[in-house]
Amino acid sequence: MSQETSQNQEFAIKICCIGAGYVGGPTMAMIAAKCPDVRVEVVDLNQARIDAWNSDNLPVYEPGLDEVVKSARGRNLFFSTGVEDAVRAADIIFVSVNTPTKTFGVGAGRAADLRFIEAVARMIASVVEEPKIIVEKSTIPVKTAETILTILSASGKKLNHQVLSNPEFLAEGTAVEDLKSPDRILIGGEQTPEGLAAIEKLVSVYARWVPRERILTTNLWSSELAKLVANAFLAQRISSINAISALCEPTGADVEEVARAIGTDSRIGPKFLKSSVGFGGSCFQKDILNLVYLCGAFGIPEVADYWEHVVRLNDWQKSRYVARVIKTLFNTVSGKRLAVLGFAFKKDTNDTRESPAISICKALLDEQARLAIYDPKVGSSQIFADLEVEANDPRIEICSDANQALKGAHAMLVLTEWDEFRDLDFVKVYNAMHKPAWVFDGRNVVDAAKLRSVGFYVYSIGKPEYS
Ligand code: UDX
Ligand code: UDX
Repeated sequence: MSQETSQNQEFAIKICCIGAGYVGGPTMAMIAAKCPDVRVEVVDLNQARIDAWNSDNLPVYEPGLDEVVKSARGRNLFFSTGVEDAVRAADIIFVSVNTPTKTFGVGAGRAADLRFIEAVARMIASVVEEPKIIVEKSTIPVKTAETILTILSASGKKLNHQVLSNPEFLAEGTAVEDLKSPDRILIGGEQTPEGLAAIEKLVSVYARWVPRERILTTNLWSSELAKLVANAFLAQRISSINAISALCEPTGADVEEVARAIGTDSRIGPKFLKSSVGFGGSCFQKDILNLVYLCGAFGIPEVADYWEHVVRLNDWQKSRYVARVIKTLFNTVSGKRLAVLGFAFKKDTNDTRESPAISICKALLDEQARLAIYDPKVGSSQIFADLEVEANDPRIEICSDANQALKGAHAMLVLTEWDEFRDLDFVKVYNAMHKPAWVFDGRNVVDAAKLRSVGFYVYSIGKPEYS
């Protein structure tokens, strides 16, 4: 069916989503797959990204995503750069553009840069002639809906638009599962008859596959804030267990045993207690800093400091790992070949935003190490861009598999928990490496006892130093 015929066909609801990224793309694909009578058009300024969504090689790697997109694309799911037409035609407009941390001026390094959100609000104000439901999907600071409403009402068109907050809780790598059966869907809106009607309309979309009791509705500000708080609490758990990992090493405690012991307390629970080289991803750091900035702006610096420390501890965990590598390798990595296994911020994604691997690799380059980097899903141009080096930088070799990276290496650094790193042929690896052969497992994925029996020296995060 061509795009035009489908435009004319009767659909119960027409949705447009601005921003075809890691959040907008998978979320809209799931809505389209689950609601054949809803027309979903995902638009983006970036032509290359749209072309990729229309091809067999999607721009986002997520297990199971190909099938979901294929089931709906061309039927009721469309990807295009026709932003204004799609906005005009839609009943519900999702805004899923990026909201990076500001790098300049007031709030630099903490506040969210809302220029894309503002540009989108201005564009909507200028092109639409009917009232719309505008849904904030991007994570934004509390009160952003007010900004959007102010811009919309300044158009002088006297259209009674509704702004809803519907934050995304999907995690990359499990996006399809998270979207298929979410713990909850959160929808915030104005507590007026028009606001409640808009909420109900969006509820009706999700209710086609999500049980009603899992769809929570709140006022706008609770929904906006809850998203930041959810990520802050999750990140706080990781920083807490990582803080304890540093205490486990000299005391002889084992962080995995400690995590199991506290995780079986049903009040604490087992999730997000995996000690690591540090958390990454596009959300945790950004959202906590956002919360820190908000607390500052509302005159509560004590609360700002409290949350800021979660991020500081994460930075410390990364530098602690680097310091350990250097100290162990006889206080110098200069000229040594270090095999870096994994560059994505976690397994099952090609996303490297805020990946701990970036700052760790940069710090090791500063120490004049030579890096042989392998990640199953991250391409070389992305790695060079993240490390801010030229593509032909002689200090870096991008490898096509783990064995290539490990050949002639002094040490193996596991920075992402890809499953394939668990069962390499470690005898072969050992024979191909310099001796003593070191393993620095930043994700606790390898079987340390087995590797020690092969002859490796193994450091694992949060494990007794003498084991
Ligand atoms: C982004 C935010 O970072 C996150 O906080 C939010 O929850 C959802 O949106 P993500 O989807 O991962 O997350 O971002 P990204 O992959 O960068 O996608 C944003 C897309 O919006 C890009 O493709 C960009 O080209 C597009 N965009 C941006 C527009 O189409 N118009 C704009 O004005 C700005
Ligand atoms: C997160 C939230 O989980 C999601 O709800 C929100 O919408 C966006 O931000 P995401 O960034 O995709 O999702 O990944 P997540 O699985 O939360 O992992 C974030 C980072 O924490 C990764 O670097 C991961 O490796 C690390 N992590 C996670 C740990 O180090 N230990 C853990 O126990 C869990």
